[in-house]
Amino acid sequence: MAFVHATVLRDEVVQLLKPVPGRRLVDATLGGGGHAEALLAAGAEVIGVDRDPSAIAAARARLAGSERFRALEGRAGELESLLGSLNLLPVDGVLLDLGVSSPQLDTPERGFSFQAEGPLDMRMGREGETAAELIRRLSESELTAVLREIGEEPFARPIARALKQDLPTTTVQAVASVKRAVPRKAWPSKVHVATRTFQALRIAVNDELGELDRVLASLPRLLRVGGRAAVIAFHSLEDRAVKQAFRALEGRCTCPPGLPVCACGAQGTFRVLTRRAVQASDAEVGQNPRARSARLRAVERVA
Ligand SMILES: C[S@@+](CC[C@H](N)C(=O)[O-])C[C@H]1O[C@@H](n2cnc3c(N)ncnc32)[C@H](O)[C@@H]1O
Repeated sequence: MAFVHATVLRDEVVQLLKPVPGRRLVDATLGGGGHAEALLAAGAEVIGVDRDPSAIAAARARLAGSERFRALEGRAGELESLLGSLNLLPVDGVLLDLGVSSPQLDTPERGFSFQAEGPLDMRMGREGETAAELIRRLSESELTAVLREIGEEPFARPIARALKQDLPTTTVQAVASVKRAVPRKAWPSKVHVATRTFQALRIAVNDELGELDRVLASLPRLLRVGGRAAVIAFHSLEDRAVKQAFRALEGRCTCPPGLPVCACGAQGTFRVLTRRAVQASDAEVGQNPRARSARLRAVERVA
């Protein structure tokens, strides 16, 4: 199957990451290589990383013509050791375009979709437990917390109870559990009743929030001075984590007012480049509705 994924905020990312010749950038969520292709076209060297071997294969096929491109299978949260072991640090830019790709969603055997029958898997990479195994392992309370805190699902408790009773092993079975747990009149009109449950399970299976925290924490050790990081988030929890991490990186001076120069050392290592998150234009959202929830933020290492 062809790997088709509409790249979100492509021009905005290119503008922020300054992909000029001589700069080495890491696209840590390579997917089909849409952003990587644009960064290469502008002249930069690009190291693409993805935890999904099928994404790596697709991007290699698409970008095989460029000598300035290489692809590595791995996780964003382990970038420091992955790149460090290959003597590729420090770099001039890091890009994260979070979440799943369209091919992952559209391949029934991957188990991400509530619209097609497949095993209840949802793993982006080859490792770790599947969504079915996660449901089996967690207690009803733990599962409720996942659905409530990550999925912001109002019927978290009854859905968790139904999932624990049914222990679904396929997507269709999981959808049936959700439908049974939520009263028919409470089904949302605009999205599928299982949307939040499936999103929460996917984020938990792949530890996506943990991955994000780890890669954000490693930025000072990944980037050289003048290097930039750009993150596109599609989930409010992720965008909040990015905003807070960037603020913390920027540092706030805690010196008493009146000191002639900063003495606390908190200031000045990073500078936030996007006071407000950058959003897709109406034209882009018109062509790709998924872009509506995208929020792009960026920082630069300045010292
Ligand atoms: C939204 S897609 C990226 C699309 C890409 N920017 C493009 O324009 O073609 C996200 C990709 O990131 C990968 N991914 C998500 N979280 C990851 C992580 N923590 N480490 C490595 N890859 C990750 C997924 O497997 C998926 O292929």
